Amino acid sequence: MKVSERMPIVAGNWKMNLGPTEARDFAASLLSDLVTVRGVEIVLCPPAISLPAVSAVLSGTNIKLGAQNMFDAERGAFTGEISPLMLHGLCEYVILGHSERRTYFGETDDIVNRKALAAFEHNIRPIVCVGEHLEDRDANRTERVITSQVYGSLKGFPAHRLNELVVAYEPIWAIGTGRAATPQDAADVAALIRALLVELYGAVEAATIRVQYGGSVTTANAGSFAAIEDIDGSLVGGASLKPDFAEIARQTLKAKGARGAR
Ligand code: PGA
Repeated sequence: MKVSERMPIVAGNWKMNLGPTEARDFAASLLSDLVTVRGVEIVLCPPAISLPAVSAVLSGTNIKLGAQNMFDAERGAFTGEISPLMLHGLCEYVILGHSERRTYFGETDDIVNRKALAAFEHNIRPIVCVGEHLEDRDANRTERVITSQVYGSLKGFPAHRLNELVVAYEPIWAIGTGRAATPQDAADVAALIRALLVELYGAVEAATIRVQYGGSVTTANAGSFAAIEDIDGSLVGGASLKPDFAEIARQTLKAKGARGAR
């Protein structure tokens, strides 16, 4: 697959912000701007409790809905968890293995891998996050950390469906800090991720996987990340809660060159 054939993707991770009423109102306020950006897939990821309210707003538009987490079992005694069966039909995407899940909720590569496999089984597209701590980067361990996360979290997927997978490279030190990675650092790690995916799945299949950059993405820097060949868009936290979120998608489109209308 040529690079130009991968549809760019910009996702907004609202994290633990906006309950159902606020989420509905905010999504509605963004909508008229978002729908004008064609040729980039745009995904809104509100908290689980707000998914139905946002789904109602997005219904009939080209804007997609994503969850921020999911358990791997279908049902049962798992207090507080949300199953893939519950998300199926509601969300097209689910963010998995975000560093906040890994750090505060003890998610390991193995857990993330099980969740991603369950997402595939239930036709929900996983956005799987990987990224190194600052200490890792400072100690030149970025390659080692990313390699073990990619091998641990991204193994065993159905090779012919890898175009449904999104991998988000999110250096932990760049998340919510206002200190984004440099485009060169992001390019280097995105290339590493793709090389590892080639090892896992072969060149043809790996070329269909979309890779995002995440960590302090704003309207000012989104274009410089999207200009990188191995990066297909961004996973946006703080700036996705701002009224000009659509501008990030627009900058992404501009950097990638206009695609045909969806
Ligand atoms: P940020 O968050 O854009 O606020 O840095 C990114 C993320 O956590 O996905």
